[in-house]
Amino acid sequence: MEYISVATLESHESQPLKSYSVFGRKVGIFRREDGSYYGLETNCKHQGADLLKGSIEGGVVTCPRHKWRYDLLTGECLSNDSPPLRHYEVVVDGGILKIAIMPIES
Ligand code: FES
Repeated sequence: MEYISVATLESHESQPLKSYSVFGRKVGIFRREDGSYYGLETNCKHQGADLLKGSIEGGVVTCPRHKWRYDLLTGECLSNDSPPLRHYEVVVDGGILKIAIMPIES
């Protein structure tokens, strides 16, 4: 698996709701309850709005444009029959967050 470095852990923690560009796709990095990290596509599957500009409540993000809702842990679309948001493996290496260049196959 190939990864690209996107941020220091310290800079990400100071601004956790931020997306990073991974070969033209916007990917947010989120932390699970166990402290591990994962990446999730942040462009809405409907018309591509930036989901990080939407509202987040109870682990669900609501798109700012037409209110499609997604589970932030699984990427599942909760309001429409849409494919899930792409998931990316994230590793921490020497205080650097690295995102896999290819999404996890679902
Ligand atoms: S762009 Fe997200 S619901 Fe339309």
